[in-house]
Order: sequence, then structure tokens, then C-alpha cells
Amino acid sequence: MTTLDRYNQLKQELHYHLYRYHVLDAPVISDAEYDRLMQELKAIEAEHPDWVTPDSPSQRIGAVVSEKFEKVRHPRPILSLANAFGAEEARAWYERIRKLDVRVETAKFVVEPKIDGLSVVLHYRQGVFVQGATRGDGEVGEEITANLRTVRALPLQIPVQPQPFSAFEHRSQQGQLSLFDTSAVAAMPALPDYLVVRGEVFITHRDFEALNRRLMEAGEKTYLNPRNTAAGSLRQLDPAVTASRPLTILVYQVVYAEQGAQSQLATEIPTSQWETLQWLKSLGFPVTEVARRFDTLDEAIAYVQSWENRRDDLGYEADGFVIKLDDLRLAEALGFVGKDPRGAIAYKFPAREVTTRLLDIEVEVGRTGVLTPRAVLEPVEIGGVVVRNATLHNFDYVAEKDIRIGDRVLVKRAGEVIPYVIGPVVEARDGTEHPYTPPIDCPACGQPVEHFEGEVAWYCVNAACPAQLVRNVEHFVSRNAMDIRGLGIRIVEQLIAAGLVRDVADLYFLTKEQLLCLEGFADKKAENLLTAIRASAGQPLNRLITALGMRGVGEVMAADLSRVYPDLEALSRATAEELQQIEGVGPNIAASIVDWFSRPANRALLQKLKSAGVWPVAGRESAHVSNQPLAGLTFVITGTLPTFSREQAKEFIERHGGKVTDSVSKKTDYLVLGEAPGSKLQKAQALGIPTLDEEGLRRLVQS
Ligand code: IVH
Repeated sequence: MTTLDRYNQLKQELHYHLYRYHVLDAPVISDAEYDRLMQELKAIEAEHPDWVTPDSPSQRIGAVVSEKFEKVRHPRPILSLANAFGAEEARAWYERIRKLDVRVETAKFVVEPKIDGLSVVLHYRQGVFVQGATRGDGEVGEEITANLRTVRALPLQIPVQPQPFSAFEHRSQQGQLSLFDTSAVAAMPALPDYLVVRGEVFITHRDFEALNRRLMEAGEKTYLNPRNTAAGSLRQLDPAVTASRPLTILVYQVVYAEQGAQSQLATEIPTSQWETLQWLKSLGFPVTEVARRFDTLDEAIAYVQSWENRRDDLGYEADGFVIKLDDLRLAEALGFVGKDPRGAIAYKFPAREVTTRLLDIEVEVGRTGVLTPRAVLEPVEIGGVVVRNATLHNFDYVAEKDIRIGDRVLVKRAGEVIPYVIGPVVEARDGTEHPYTPPIDCPACGQPVEHFEGEVAWYCVNAACPAQLVRNVEHFVSRNAMDIRGLGIRIVEQLIAAGLVRDVADLYFLTKEQLLCLEGFADKKAENLLTAIRASAGQPLNRLITALGMRGVGEVMAADLSRVYPDLEALSRATAEELQQIEGVGPNIAASIVDWFSRPANRALLQKLKSAGVWPVAGRESAHVSNQPLAGLTFVITGTLPTFSREQAKEFIERHGGKVTDSVSKKTDYLVLGEAPGSKLQKAQALGIPTLDEEGLRRLVQS
């Protein structure tokens, strides 16, 4: 194979894996394998810079845009939607259009979520993403191509092809299974030379919360809601900033298509909304999975209503569903009123904003010592849930919005996102409200609070602050850190209250006798906890770094650090300048790491961890999450394990690359044996299959 062939193959593969990961949510290779392919691609591009085109997977983050966005005229007007609040208004819409065109009586309807994001228009020439724009006023939008390229779910090249895998053949079959139904694709229209589609860019609830958690830990300003964050991210002049935001996209409309000199949406492309969605999907665009087609409006309405109480299951904010005439030619013929096409209606859900009284503002102390204000509300129901507390983000926010105690405030609760205070209802004031002053001392330990240059947060810097210690230990033992099962917040509080744990290293010096003195501890429970703690001593370096919870150092950063520094000793000697050589480490994080190691209490903590044998060295086990020591091994579990539940054990094995099956066969590599095993043990013995206890299983991962 020539280098150019290999280069093109790599491009295809990388496009495909991004598609698997971000569109299908079903990756077939690990992050490390992906990184390797990307490195190979970049190496070739370094040798042959003239080969690089904007649709290369390496070009997702491009150059900074000159100080403002260019204007783009849309090939056809980008329309809006009229609203219907409730079934009655939806039926009234139907009546209106039925009177205009009798064909409406036999029409079908497509129902799709109305995503609360930003409408964008994407241009593809010869299958390559060449331009993207905001909706703007519907006629002219702003050119945000470079920013849209950073959206991983957006295909840079269509159709996305199922790939012949060069490096990972063994996985490809499983990967291709149900993905492309080739018979269906064959019946699909060919790709036009020039295709313009429309979609909605947004951030999922989960990604939004993770983003805010990260920002909070770094002492930075958190975002108000997913929609504003997505909007702000798309209008960044520096695409690197956009790339750092977890944007995604769903596509739902063909705006324009052109074949050769023939400009038309005429016969070559689908004429129904339902087929449009199938076609877009077959090209590799991310398309909603919950769209449905119905023969009658009543069914369509019933479907929308079925989502009203489970809208959070969508995973992103939808302010309703859109009911569209399936027949796009009929929809077109109906024309529009202002900017609203008659052929579709937005069936809106009740807004999830209410007003209530702000009774008080409490201050919470986080793990890193960040103080955050929290609203104590007169209890109020929002979308079926009683809300008593809401976040106020930070003290600047309270001041900027002039939120006063006693105010009526507007509160929003959307999805799983923590409810937040939007702002005060100033008109409702009667003079009894009083402004809020942030505390100058930590509410938990009474020490003066501090502020760092360039950050919005206020900190309690007292390492011995009890509120921080609880959060610290909680973080240390958490699933993505040292993963000590069975050590919940209650027990953490118990251990700290009893004076048994003054820092995280104390966990490793706990004795059974000590635990037995605590309420609720019997022999078995104490032993299991000690086993789980001991097992965690073998966790790899990246997890220990994560667990120590330095400001601004999350899982990804910890993994990066553990690739460069073999142990904590080496990391502790790193200077801020050295640290900044690592991608993603800016001056703030570098300073925070150096600061962490410079504190005597932390140095003592490291010594203590070392003496307890908690001293992982990178390289013995790859620091990367994709390290899969159990790859290729099949396990069967029987009996009750000391600390893992069945599900947890399964998850543990799978996370490390292994497979879990229900019954013992010749293909089984290990039987994981707990208390009171079933008949599986006999079968395993008969077949000569080795057994492992839980600790043995954990050791297997560490060896
Ligand atoms: S269809 C003729 N479908 O909602 C097509 N719009 O309030 C008109 N939106 O500007 C739009 N999800 O940004 C359509 N599945 C969906 C949508 C959707 C979100 C947005 C779109 C539009 C706004 C109208």
C-alpha cells in the first residue's frame, strides 16, 4: 500500500470511529487505539502537508477567526415554527390547514423532538463539509464553519462509510453488524453534488453537568444552562474554545440540493419527512431516534403527550415536539405565515420555570474548598418534583443579578440539571428584602476565606476544614478515583467524626477493631471494607492523581500527567514551566499542581501513602482508561462476592476489557467465586477451569 493509500484509509477510519463514538454512541475501538490512528495520520500529514484538506479528521480545530464572523446568505429561507400549547391548539392548526387543502385529510404526520439548541445550516459539496452558518434572521446567518468542525458528531465527509479495518480487523465485524442496512441504503437517493442541511446544535444534560463540575473544581465560572452555553460556544472567535465545549448535533431537514447544473429539490431527494430522516441517517448524519410517523393527528398528539412526563429521558432539553406533515410537497404548497411554515407546528411543553420565595442563602464548602451559595426556597413544584434548593452559581452571580433574601425569584429546573435561580422578580419587591453579603469566614471551620487572582470562586484554604475533609475522602474513594466500594458518605462521616480519619491516607491504617467500635459495623462488614480499601492500594497512578483532587486536575488531566511522570515523586518535582508543556495544562492548572505539592500537609500525606504501600508507578500498568488487562478473557460469576454486587463485578470486568457470560463452558477462562456458589462451580471443576475470588480478580487487573 502506498503512503497516500494508507493516508486515505486512515482518514476514512478516523471519520468512521468518530461516527461510531459520537453519533451511534457505540465505539468499536478504545480511545488509545483511536489516538494511535490519529497519530499515524498526523505523522503522514507532517511529511506531506500538501495532502491535508479541511475535511481531514486532524482539522477539527482550526485557526482563530479574524475578529468577526462573515455573513452567509442561506440558499433558501430558514423558517421558524408556530407554537401550539396543548392538544386543542394542535387540532386548531390541523383544521386551518385542512380548510386550505383537502389533501391534509389523508396526510401522515412525523413527530420529532423540538430540541432547545441553536439552528445551524450545513453545506456539503461533493460530500465534504465546506461551510456552516447560524440561522441569523432566516435569510442571512453568520459563518461559523471552523467552530462547527469541532462538533465531533458532525460528519466532515458524507456518506460516512462502513470501514474495512486495517488495524482492528477482529473488531470490525461486530462493529458493522446492524449499522448499515445496505439494502436500505441502495434504495436511497444518491448524494447530490451540493447539499445543504439543517440541524440543531446543543449540549446534553449529562455533558452540561460534567462541564460545570469541572469548571467549579477549577474555581471558574459555571454556566447557566445548556442552551446559552451552546450558543456562546458557537459564537467563539477561537475554535479551540468551542472544541472544549461538549457540543453535539441532530440533523432534521434538507434545505437545498443541487445536482450538476440542475438546482432542485425535485425528484432526486426524498419528498417525505420520514424518508428525509432515513436518508440523512444513511448518509451518516446524527438523526433523532425518537421520531415516529403516524396516520392520524390524534396518534401524533398521543405520542407527543406520551413524552410530556418523561421528557428528561431524551437526555437533552426539548421544549416540546414538532408535528410535521410527512408530505413535504404538500407542506411546501401550504406556504407560510410570516416566518412560520403552515406544514408544521411546535407542540410546546409547559415551561419548567416557576417563581417562589428565596428564604435564605446557605453556603456549601466543596472538596477543593470552594464556597458556593445555595438558595433555600419556599418549596415549589416544578414539573412534578418539589424543589427546595437551587444553585446560585457563585457570589458574583448573586451580586450581578442583585438577588436579595426575601425576593420572589424565577427558578428553572430542566432535566437532571440541578435547579437554578434565573433571577429576581424585581416588580414583586415590597421593601422587606435585604441584600446578601458573602461570608468572610468559612461557615464550616471559621477560618478566613480567600480569593485567587483570575478566579471567581472564594476558597476556604484550611486543609483541616472538616467540611472539606468529608468531601475530600468522598472524592478519594469515588468510582473514577480509587474506587473503594462500600465506603459511602455515611461511613466517611462516621470515620471522620470518630477521629479515625484525618486525611485520606488514614484509610489504609484502619484496623478491624477500630471499625467494630463504630455503629452498624459487624465482623463481615468491617472485613469487607478493609478488603476493598486494601485492594484499592493497587490502583494505577492516574487514579491516585485523580483521587488527590488537585484543583483543575480531573480524570483526563490525571491520565496525561501519569503518562509523563512515572510516580508522584517525579510529579512533585515538576516545575510550572515543565507542566505547561503538557497539552491542556495552562498556567492556572500548572500553578495549582505546584502549589499542591508545596504544601507541607500534602507532602506529609504523600509520605504516609507511600508507607501504606499506596505508591503506583506508571508503566507497570498503562495509565490510560483504555488499558484492558482482561481483554479476550471470559468470566462467569457465581455466589455472593464480599464487596461487589453481581452488577458491579460485571461492570468491573467489562471495564477492563473482559466478557461475562451466564454459563460455564469450555470457553470460560475463569470462574469468579463468591460465598454459596451454585452448580457452576462443579461444572467449572469438571472442565478444569480455574477459579478466582474477588481479590484475585482485582489482582488480575493489576498484574
Ligand atoms: S423544523 C420548516 N424540527 O425550533 C422547518 N425545528 O421554534 C422549521 N427546532 O428555528 C423547523 N428541533 O431551530 C424543526 N425537530 C425540529 C426542531 C426544530 C428544534 C428549532 C429550530 C426552529 C425552532 C422553531
